[in-house]
Amino acid sequence: MTEKKERKSTLNNLDGKEWVKATKSWFIVNPKPRSKNQICHPAKYPEELVSRFVAFFTKEGHWVLDPFAGVGSTLIACKEMGRNAVGVELNIEFVEIGIKSIQSFKGKGKHFLIPGDAYVCHMNIEDMFEGEEQPEFDFLMTSPPYWNMLRKSRGGNDTIHKEREEEGLPTYYSDLELDVGNIDSYEEYIERIGQIFDRIKPLLRSKAYLVVVVQNMRDIDGEMKPIAWDLGKRLSQTYSLKQEMIWCQDNKRLGCWGFPTTYVSNVHHHYCLILQKN
Ligand SMILES: C[S@@+](CC[C@H](N)C(=O)[O-])C[C@H]1O[C@@H](n2cnc3c(N)ncnc32)[C@H](O)[C@@H]1O
Repeated sequence: MTEKKERKSTLNNLDGKEWVKATKSWFIVNPKPRSKNQICHPAKYPEELVSRFVAFFTKEGHWVLDPFAGVGSTLIACKEMGRNAVGVELNIEFVEIGIKSIQSFKGKGKHFLIPGDAYVCHMNIEDMFEGEEQPEFDFLMTSPPYWNMLRKSRGGNDTIHKEREEEGLPTYYSDLELDVGNIDSYEEYIERIGQIFDRIKPLLRSKAYLVVVVQNMRDIDGEMKPIAWDLGKRLSQTYSLKQEMIWCQDNKRLGCWGFPTTYVSNVHHHYCLILQKN
């Protein structure tokens, strides 16, 4: 009888059952209530969202990059899972909050949340590793600003804006010129994100995967801006676009927008674009 050779996974430590489960193209993750500090960030993603992708696309000890790191959710998830991570974030206040949060979680590995502009993050990272061997990143997981969505009042977002304003919490990321959420032109926004990812490519190892979380947006004139589709197209100039996964939330309040004349949906899903460097 010939012995069956066990095939070793180069990608992750999942068994067959876990692997298959992780490949379903949609899933539900309902964010847990945030800590007092993290609430300052207007659009943090949940660590549980990061964990499912980190579990699929990395092994323990691998390096993960997040160029729009916010308050460090990617790094927290990586720490809990024994992966190393570097995050770059433009707003220094978010960096400070993130560093404290990361320290408060238990885990393994090296985790660096540094202030900087994603456009030149290769330089920040080079400086950080000066005198040491700079690792190649095995995986990138991030969520850039959904254009200037946070600055526009629309439907459900309007309610959240009002509630945050009443509590004295920020409703957008910053007034900084380099903040990609402050770019006026939609076309320029898509191109800028594209250029950021072009410049990041040399930091990633060959065949590394990327997961970019975005959402299509209804503009104030009622037209949809298909951010996920336009970014998918732009990023596929540099990377190979593999798939999309749809992250659904089913614990959000439903709003009665547009009734009784106009169709306005309650958007409770995000696109996780899956790309690969090849
Ligand atoms: C959707 S949020 C990411 C939140 C993050 N995933 C978390 O859970 O905390 C986008 C982040 O990009 C940051 N940002 C905007 N422009 C940037 C730039 N040019 N370079 C780096 N970060 C930027 C914003 O300040 C914001 O924190």
